[in-house]
Amino acid sequence: MNWKSCLTFVVSFLFETTVPSETQLAILGQHIVLDCSFPVDKQWDRTRCQIEWKLDKVVVHSFYYGQDHLNDQNSHYVNRTSLYHSDIQKGNASLRLEHATLGDEGNYTCTVHTEMGPKRTSVSLKLAAFYAEPRLKFSTSACGVELLLTTKGYPRPSVQWLTVSGEDVGDDTVTHLSQDTQGLYTVSSTVSLQGAVNKTLTFILKNEALGQEIRRNITLLSGNSVDVSPGVYQERWWFVITVLAVMLKYLKLNKLYRTHL
Ligand SMILES: *[C@@H]1O[C@H](CO)[C@@H](O)[C@H](O)[C@H]1NC(C)=O
Ligand SMILES: *[C@@H]1O[C@H](CO)[C@@H](O)[C@H](O)[C@H]1NC(C)=O
Ligand SMILES: *[C@@H]1O[C@H](CO)[C@@H](O)[C@H](O)[C@H]1NC(C)=O
Ligand SMILES: *[C@@H]1O[C@H](CO)[C@@H](O)[C@H](O)[C@H]1NC(C)=O
Ligand SMILES: *[C@@H]1O[C@H](CO)[C@@H](O)[C@H](O)[C@H]1NC(C)=O
Repeated sequence: MNWKSCLTFVVSFLFETTVPSETQLAILGQHIVLDCSFPVDKQWDRTRCQIEWKLDKVVVHSFYYGQDHLNDQNSHYVNRTSLYHSDIQKGNASLRLEHATLGDEGNYTCTVHTEMGPKRTSVSLKLAAFYAEPRLKFSTSACGVELLLTTKGYPRPSVQWLTVSGEDVGDDTVTHLSQDTQGLYTVSSTVSLQGAVNKTLTFILKNEALGQEIRRNITLLSGNSVDVSPGVYQERWWFVITVLAVMLKYLKLNKLYRTHL
């Protein structure tokens, strides 16, 4: 081994691609940059460098002979990927991905080939979407009122209903999660209240990935009035009054019915 091949060996040993070690988080519909860098020396030749980004075996983006080559690119990524061409000679192999979708989740490998051979490293991408303002629906039966809150987002949230004293309503709540065609979770959370008593409940939804918390108080007053904070459900106000009125009528009818028995 002469000194030159020995040096090449040492340099090759030191040549590594670097990506962030922590999972990257993209927000649905927004762009994300997956960082990847590699060392370059003075004689570095951009035309002899190849950069390839893959998700498992799927080709996300490839660059060689000094330009992008997208013939093998998977259709899922068409028109959504780019490299920072002017920064490649500084060792920047980062991938910019536009309009992130839930299908983009996974482990991406960044491979850089130079005279010193290929080096690859993986970076993991997760998606998240903020939960929308929940929609409130009421339904009544002879024995009480049922509140249903629905909202959509990603990933799975935690959902809780609390009483004024901070206790979990637990038993009287049912929460369903389903995924739409896009993969977003539809959350439907129902709480059943017995009788027309004054009650305030707090609905809490948390999307840990984004540090999002939705907290809404819902107050039902038996005296034909409803108060909901913070003003979100006001358009439903009159509807609720009607619903409560109908419910009270039901209860009265029930009483009448019972006395007739
Ligand atoms: C590459 O360049 C882009 C644009 O300047 C920058 O946002 C990104 O952080 C760079 N990545 C690395 C690994 O330097
Ligand atoms: C990608 O962009 C080109 C040029 O703007 C356009 O002709 C093509 O339809 C686009 N393809 C997709 C899948 O969006
Ligand atoms: C990505 O890699 C990590 C660790 O290597 C693994 O736990 C995870 O399941 C992988 N994710 C996907 C979507 O393949
Ligand atoms: C909601 O109710 C809780 C408990 O009763 C109270 O501490 C909080 O201030 C209320 N929030 C709003 C926005 O009214
Ligand atoms: C409910 O609250 C209203 C208004 O504060 C009050 O007039 C009514 O008596 C209360 N009803 C019960 C059952 O506590």
